[in-house]
Amino acid sequence: MHSHLLLGVALVANLCDAIPIQDSPRQRLLDGLGLPSTYRSVTGGGRLPFTPGHKDPYDNAVDAVGDDLDPLPWRNGLGASVLGPWNKERSRQSPDIVRPPSTDHGNVANMRWSFADSHIRIEEGGWTRQTTITELPTSVELAGVNMRLGEGVIRELHWHKEAEWAYVLDGEVRVTALDYEGGNFIDDLKKGDLWSVIAKNFNLAPEVFAHIPQGEKYIFQGSKPGSIDDEEPQGKEVKKSKYNFTHRMLEQEPINSTNGGGHVRITDSKNFPISKTIAAAHAVIEPGAIREMHWHPNADEWSFFIKGRARVTIFASEGTARTFDYVPGDVGIVPRNMGHFVENIGDEPIEMLEIFRADEFRDISLFKWMGETPQKQVIDTLFADDPKNGKLFLNKIKDANNNVVTKPDFVRSKNDMAGDL
Ligand SMILES: *[C@@H]1O[C@H](CO)[C@@H](O)[C@H](O)[C@H]1NC(C)=O
Ligand SMILES: *[C@@H]1O[C@H](CO)[C@@H](O)[C@H](O)[C@H]1NC(C)=O
Repeated sequence: MHSHLLLGVALVANLCDAIPIQDSPRQRLLDGLGLPSTYRSVTGGGRLPFTPGHKDPYDNAVDAVGDDLDPLPWRNGLGASVLGPWNKERSRQSPDIVRPPSTDHGNVANMRWSFADSHIRIEEGGWTRQTTITELPTSVELAGVNMRLGEGVIRELHWHKEAEWAYVLDGEVRVTALDYEGGNFIDDLKKGDLWSVIAKNFNLAPEVFAHIPQGEKYIFQGSKPGSIDDEEPQGKEVKKSKYNFTHRMLEQEPINSTNGGGHVRITDSKNFPISKTIAAAHAVIEPGAIREMHWHPNADEWSFFIKGRARVTIFASEGTARTFDYVPGDVGIVPRNMGHFVENIGDEPIEMLEIFRADEFRDISLFKWMGETPQKQVIDTLFADDPKNGKLFLNKIKDANNNVVTKPDFVRSKNDMAGDL
C-alpha cells in the first residue's frame, strides 16, 4: 500500500518537472515557437541572435539571476540554441561561463568552486564541507572548510601541521587553545570575529593529551558552556597564554571609499600579530560599484563570497583573460600578480573575504600605479595616437587615491539595460 502511494507521489513530481518554464527561449525554440518577445526584441525583430552581424546587448555584465534571464550560448551573431540537456539554474548563476564576454581570451584555468558542490561530512550535531586542491585545482596555497556546529556541539581539540585561520559567519562560538609554552587561552566569538592558530601550536609533550578519548571524535555533542570565568582552568599549574588568538575583524574601523562604492577592513600581522601566515580583507562593494583593477604581488587570493552577486575578470599571462561569476557560498581564486577587478552585478551589496597566505595584505591598484608612473610614459604607451583621450585619461588617474572600491562614472543600472532591449 505504502509503496504505491510513494510511486504516485514520484509520478506527480515527474510530471511537474516536465512542465516547460514559461517563456524559456530554449523551450520555445524546441517547440518551434521562435523566441519570447524580450529575446526577439534583442535581435531587432525576426532575426535570430546567431545571425552574422548581430550586436548582442548582453555582451557585458549581466545579472541573469536578478533580471530572470536565461543565458544561452550565443553572442554577437555567433553560437546556436541548445537542444540537449541544459541546467538553466546553473547557467543563470554563471552567465559568463555560458556566454563568455568577447573580451575573454585564451585558456585560463578554472577559478571558481561552489561549496554547494562539496561533499558534506555529517557528524553528531554538526557538519563540515571543504574546498581544497581536490575540488579546485587552482586552490594551491590555501584550503577552506565551511563548518556548522549546533548549540553545545564541540569541534574536538585538534592540531595541524599548517596554520588555521577562521572567520565566524554567524552565531557564537567559544575557542579554547593551548600555546606551545603550555599557556591557556579562552575567548567567546561572534559574527565577524576571527581566530588564528599558528602551525605546530600544540607542539607539547604527549602526556598533555593523555586524557583525550581514544578514536576520533571529530564533532560531537557537548553541553552548552558556562561563562568564561566559570570554565577557565584554575589551579597553580595553569598559566594564561601571553598570546591573543582572536580578533574582532568587523569591529575594526573600515577604510571607506571616497565615493560611496563600499568599504574594506584589512587584518594581517600588523593588527593581529598571531596571524603571521594569513592576511585577509573583508570587503563590501555596493550595487553598481566595482573593486577596481588591482593585483596582489605576494600571494594568491582565496576569496569567499558571503553575500551578493559578483563578476570577476581575471587577466592572466600572455594576454589571456577569463570572467567568472560568484554567488554566496562560492570560492574564488586569483593567482598572484594577475590583474583582476570585481563588479557588483546584483542589487545588494557584495560581502566577501579575500584571504592570502602571507604576513601582510598587499595590493597594487592599476590607477595608483599609473598615477605614479611618469605621465609621458603612460601617454606614449597607451595614447600615442590619441592625445585628446590621453588627456582625459591623465586627469582621471592624476589624483588616483588608493580607493579599493569605487563607483565608476558610468554605472550600469537596470533602467539602462532596459533601454538597450
Ligand atoms: C583578544 O583581542 C581582542 C581584540 O581584538 C579582545 O577583544 C579580546 O578580549 C582579547 N582576548 C583575550 C582573551 O585577551
Ligand atoms: C566610514 O563609513 C562609516 C559608515 O558610513 C562611518 O560610520 C565611518 O565613520 C566612516 N569612517 C571614516 C574613517 O570616515
